[in-house]
Amino acid sequence: MQFTITVNNRKIKAEKGETILSALNRNGIIIPTLCRMKDFSPTGACRMCVVEVEGRDRLVTACSQPVEEWMEIRTHSPRVITARKTIVELLLSNHPDDCLYCDKNLNCELQKLSEELNIRERRIRARKIKPRLDQSSPAIVRELSKCILCGRCVRVCEEEITSTSLDFINRGSLTHVGPAMDRDFNFSSCIHCGQCVLVCPTGALHEKHNINEVQEYLNNHEILKVIQYTPLVASGIAEEMGVRYNREFDRILNSILRKIGFDKVFLTGTGTDICVSEISEQLGRSVDSNTGTPLYISACPAWVKYAEQFIPSILPQLSTVKSPQQIAGVIVKTLVADQAGVKPEKIYSVAATPCMAMKFEARRDGMMRKGISDVDSVMTVRELARLIRLYGIDVTNIEPEPVDEPLSGRTSSAALAEVSGGLAEAVTRQLLYERMKSESDRQTFRKLRVGGSFREITVRLNDRDVNIAVVDGLAGLEKLRNAQAGGKKYDLVEVMVCQGGCVNGAGLPFSATKEEKKNRTRMIYQADESDALTLPCKSPVLSNLLEKLIKENSEISDKKIFHTHFEKRNVLL
Ligand code: SF4
Ligand code: SF4
Ligand code: FES
Repeated sequence: MQFTITVNNRKIKAEKGETILSALNRNGIIIPTLCRMKDFSPTGACRMCVVEVEGRDRLVTACSQPVEEWMEIRTHSPRVITARKTIVELLLSNHPDDCLYCDKNLNCELQKLSEELNIRERRIRARKIKPRLDQSSPAIVRELSKCILCGRCVRVCEEEITSTSLDFINRGSLTHVGPAMDRDFNFSSCIHCGQCVLVCPTGALHEKHNINEVQEYLNNHEILKVIQYTPLVASGIAEEMGVRYNREFDRILNSILRKIGFDKVFLTGTGTDICVSEISEQLGRSVDSNTGTPLYISACPAWVKYAEQFIPSILPQLSTVKSPQQIAGVIVKTLVADQAGVKPEKIYSVAATPCMAMKFEARRDGMMRKGISDVDSVMTVRELARLIRLYGIDVTNIEPEPVDEPLSGRTSSAALAEVSGGLAEAVTRQLLYERMKSESDRQTFRKLRVGGSFREITVRLNDRDVNIAVVDGLAGLEKLRNAQAGGKKYDLVEVMVCQGGCVNGAGLPFSATKEEKKNRTRMIYQADESDALTLPCKSPVLSNLLEKLIKENSEISDKKIFHTHFEKRNVLL
């Protein structure tokens, strides 16, 4: 039901049941918020969204108060502005003054609010919070002194990620946010998805940087410096650099990476094509043997850690195939080392990725051989952009260059793998092609491409139905469990922790607009429409790699190095 309310002496339409904030925003009236997150229940923790309602003594929080028919609201009265300003001044009163060194400098919501509210002096002074730095996690750094207790990280971890790795600890002035029993991050159930980093309004949570380490290696002339990047890295760097992305930018990125000192530039996508082929073979075997149990895709490292911690019963069904990054990494330390005539320990291998959990994955026991890591360092897109800026390269005025062999080509399957449902689609398309010798119609997979936390399709493979399920964000696991409890049998299950897939990975630019985020997914599906090569089994780069080079190398000819193992993990909740 719609009714009319008065806001700032103007009549606007409101819907029964919605909050004041929702009515304001729908009518183009913007007020500041801090603790509120779209699609999450409001907590009213920060009071930044206060407005004045005629007849009410106290200011009300617009994000939690339902709108009512009689309301006359003032959103920017002197009283409201003073209240908002005082809230920010109180937050700043004990906040460290190190904006220049902060990870979120220029992307900080607290900074933005103090600018918008014209805060130009420190009126309120309180004792600074003692700096406490938790660097124990391989992926995420916690700087407690910068936390403003908005609770966004706690809610995203509990309600969206369902890992519940963060909570409020203590009371009053001792309140802070952290893992259970106030232990360090590496002792927690954190799966390193980084979604808490994406929602944190300040620099209290950020990725663990590898920029200095990478820079040091770039200056070391006795080491072969190698970098691999995924399709979303190229578009993410374009976003960060403020240039319009098209496929030519991939070739420009190759030149940039060489200019800053990398000796070889590779596509992670070749690794993705191997990943698709290997999982497709596993799916074929599983379908043939009619086990009645699904094969779970293991390419999302945050999902793998979640499964190891919370649902170890499925580990026997978790595909043993390594993620694309790790497959490309292992090729670098074997084939590339051979071809370049250098020992693997003399190669420094960097992976640039939209994912934060890959930082953890690269450190897993199963991702190194003879004490040598497949991937030495993982950089988010934001880190790589910072590194590029350091070298002062004008990205608009640079000659494009090709990537290096042997990881020099990818099919559209490799791009699809970065969107939720895409890897399941690519694996199935490859299997259908191998068995039925014709490419499937993309319409078959239409239902896997739409939104929603749980999606499923059935495809026909000769005389048998193959059931595929996609869990888009861990909240969808419950729907999978319910369907399985109701007797539904799946052959293949893909789970990605970040909603929508890597397109919403925590390593992508903070500053991306809604349109840029949508474009990431659009670009991937467009690539699938326009790329000449869609399936790994048709890729000449891959057949050269698999049929010739790998067969020649006794260490990898059985392809065992593309596989790993996963184990139950005990965590403190
Ligand atoms: S990285 Fe993910 S799992 Fe870990 S605390 Fe943040 S939201 Fe939770
Ligand atoms: S760590 Fe960040 S998101 Fe979490 S409560 Fe503190 S300021 Fe908010
Ligand atoms: S945004 Fe409304 S109370 Fe924080």
